[in-house]
Amino acid sequence: MSVKPLKFVTLLGSLRKASYNAMVARTLPKLAPEGITIEALPSIGSIPLYDADVQQHEGIPAAVEEIVKKIREADGVIIVTPEYNYSVPGGLKNAIDWISRVPEQPLAGKPVLIQTSSMGPIGGARCQYHLRQILVFLDAMVMNKPEFMGGVIQTKVDEQAGEVIEQGTLDFLTGQLGAFAAYAERVSK
Ligand code: FNR
Repeated sequence: MSVKPLKFVTLLGSLRKASYNAMVARTLPKLAPEGITIEALPSIGSIPLYDADVQQHEGIPAAVEEIVKKIREADGVIIVTPEYNYSVPGGLKNAIDWISRVPEQPLAGKPVLIQTSSMGPIGGARCQYHLRQILVFLDAMVMNKPEFMGGVIQTKVDEQAGEVIEQGTLDFLTGQLGAFAAYAERVSK
């Protein structure tokens, strides 16, 4: 599929070093269509809990500003996250809450792709729909299909290399990135 050069950024919902979702995110640049670059956003781990008083008196935290700047510069955002307790991990929700309070909030009109992976069989599907609901309020342009839900992801990676190796998963992700590139080009016109 031929698309114009685009830059995507990944927003990771897990903080742990050996995160399977980090392995998925790390695999993406190699699978991207020609002309598409994919870079990781800074970790959400140093973002303080959202507090409107902090925002009012101290402003938006530097860690949030940095992520916001990179989102503004990107043609699309790929959210790669586990599911926690059938929903969105608190740290990711907190990051989105901060991002949503920035003037000219950067997810409005932005093409977004959601990828979830978990050790369970349904790959974080329930998180995806909660995340979609949150992103509706932010006017993000979330691609509907194809959806990637990486079930039993621990069987599809090389833990040493820290990347996805299972061929069916790689093929699916490649196809999904191609679809997202075409979608992002269409949406941002
Ligand atoms: C989980 N896990 C999990 N898995 C799932 O499929 N559905 C769920 O609702 C939950 N809930 C949940 C809550 C909490 C607090 C934790 C820590 C974990 C398991 C989860 O899929 C597994 O730990 C993944 O490995 C987490 O993703 P990362 O950190 O490997 O990217």
